[in-house]
Amino acid sequence: MLVLGLESSCDETGVALFDTERGLLGDAIYSQIALHAEYGGVVPELASRDHVRKALPLIREVLTGAGKTTADLDGVAYTAGPGLIGALLVGAAIGRSLAWGLGIPAIGVHHMEGHLLAPMLENSVPDFPFIALLVSGGHTMLVRVDGVGRYRILGETLDDAAGEAFDKTAKLLGLPYPGGPELARLAEQGDPSRFHFPRPMTDRPGLDFSFSGLKTFALNTLQALAPTETDKADVARAFEDAVVETLAIKCRRALQETGISRLVIAGGVGANRQLRARLAEIARKEGGAVFYPRPKYCTDNGAMIAYAGALRLAAGAQELNVIGARARWNLDSLEPPDQQRAS
Ligand code: KG4
Ligand code: ZN
Repeated sequence: MLVLGLESSCDETGVALFDTERGLLGDAIYSQIALHAEYGGVVPELASRDHVRKALPLIREVLTGAGKTTADLDGVAYTAGPGLIGALLVGAAIGRSLAWGLGIPAIGVHHMEGHLLAPMLENSVPDFPFIALLVSGGHTMLVRVDGVGRYRILGETLDDAAGEAFDKTAKLLGLPYPGGPELARLAEQGDPSRFHFPRPMTDRPGLDFSFSGLKTFALNTLQALAPTETDKADVARAFEDAVVETLAIKCRRALQETGISRLVIAGGVGANRQLRARLAEIARKEGGAVFYPRPKYCTDNGAMIAYAGALRLAAGAQELNVIGARARWNLDSLEPPDQQRAS
């Protein structure tokens, strides 16, 4: 089954082709970073308009690159939420219309399910059940995954997402949008022993997170300094260490509490090298293993949507033929694909 995947939930237009027999046949991404950079964050209306401009050329590019035409497609998957509603509706309208025109099924994919299943695009894939740490710009959660569509949220952030905390702290450090990767680069030059930031909510039981205090801690530290470049690198390092260690403590706790030893990391912050190394260490110590997508499939991409959609369509999932999207959508409200019926 050959499925075209479209991702347009935020500031990246992602397109990919996934074949359930042959794997990923091609993918392309267009990032709107330059468009939003001067505003210091994503401007939703500009994002929607740019998806309109880029989606069709990217679809053509991916099909041509794989030596395919729209006539070869067996299904279309698009991100139906959560995300920016206007941006989502662009993908939904294009995906549904294309599928309707071709007489093939379309399916709306949950963006976080895409992230969660992205490690399956790699050679070494985890068996179910596994624990997934989803860390993106909009979400931070620990999920118990018993199968496709069988998700239990064990903990989540009570305020800022980890990526959001990275981006806001990067802004305080004067780094350009999107700050996460920039902050991580600066932190490499920082002295890890100079500042010690708190590890929020690790001194009490439970698997929830809170990251907004770390940003304030960074602000207070910087304000006391009139910071030089060295000071900024040291603050970046202390901040990154605090986020990584907090996530690591909660992941270890989730593995211990569930007795599951396989850990998956997904979402944009999963591209962070220090986090990947630290979580690999934790999983090893727990006698298990860590699985993550390659960095380009950690951040938003079309491949994860094509893959999740192909799994669902191949298992017989059905939806009403309606163009729609959801800005908010709980991951644990999803059903396994064989129970997903149009009604
Ligand atoms: O999953 P994603 O591409 O988009 C959302 O669904 O939100 O995640 C984007 C987030 C941004 O906050 C970005 O700053 C962060 O992931 N990010 C990183 C790194 N690469 C991306 N944060 C820390 N270190 C990185 N290397
Ligand atoms: Zn994402």
